[in-house]
Amino acid sequence: MEQPKAISDGRPEPQPMNLRIEPMQLEDVAEVRSIEEASFSLPWPRNAYRREIVENRLARYFVIRDLDATTDSEESTHGPLSERMRTRRFPFSLLPSVDIEPDWRYGRPTLVAYGGLWLMVDEAHITTIASRPDVRGQNIGELMLTALIDVAIGLAARWVTLEVRVSNSLARTLYKKYSFRSTGIRPRYYSDNQEDALVMWSEDVNLESFQCLFQERIAALRQKHTWTTTYPETGGFLGDSARD
Ligand SMILES: CC(C)(COP(=O)(O)OP(=O)(O)OC[C@H]1O[C@@H](n2cnc3c(N)ncnc32)[C@H](O)[C@@H]1OP(=O)(O)O)[C@@H](O)C(=O)NCCC(=O)NCCS
Repeated sequence: MEQPKAISDGRPEPQPMNLRIEPMQLEDVAEVRSIEEASFSLPWPRNAYRREIVENRLARYFVIRDLDATTDSEESTHGPLSERMRTRRFPFSLLPSVDIEPDWRYGRPTLVAYGGLWLMVDEAHITTIASRPDVRGQNIGELMLTALIDVAIGLAARWVTLEVRVSNSLARTLYKKYSFRSTGIRPRYYSDNQEDALVMWSEDVNLESFQCLFQERIAALRQKHTWTTTYPETGGFLGDSARD
């Protein structure tokens, strides 16, 4: 496959992806863990996601899957699903590819991002967010953030907050794009290198100014990717998208 072209700041040119945003299930945890280990110097303990999904009533976790790429237990096979379907063996190869439901026997759609929050009264605390290293720079982490904010609005939160390493300028840029501002520092918050955490808060997500910005950002994402959402507590902003 042709390599994506590099653009000025070194990020690859976004390739349109066909995505599904859904609640995290126990069977997602292995894939989540592998992104987690590639993303954080202090990954959560092995059982943490299981506990969060099963026991924490205040928690909501989500994943994004790339419907045109598959992962199975042995390997990750990136490539359009339609291409895989064209390689079906005779006599199934003669069947028209329309009207055929995707067949995940050869693997599940690849998990490309995950994130979660805790709802504490009217505050949504983002506890984690990460995108798969090989899709970074393609607005997938951003789409995960918009899903979390949409859910926060659906749960009647007024503000969204999170902690971020002072050195994590990429994530800080993303949060600023969604109105987050730093309001304080937690000194030596991260035990691996004693790094400080910045505490960031969004604007009041009920304000018209925030909602205009949010809608604008989502409209820009719709130009890049298509997605469906299957989570119940939606704020009604993200919805499903369709590219023209
Ligand atoms: C932080 C993270 C989730 C962002 O996801 P991503 O898929 O890499 O980023 P996106 O492509 O969605 O970028 C969205 C925005 O972030 C900023 N951004 C992303 N990559 C950037 C880069 N290389 N340079 C400058 N800004 C960048 C931009 O504002 C971008 O918006 P734009 O495309 O309109 O410029 C991802 O990098 C990640 O998983 N990092 C490791 C884990 C982590 O640090 N999590 C956050 C903990 S608080």
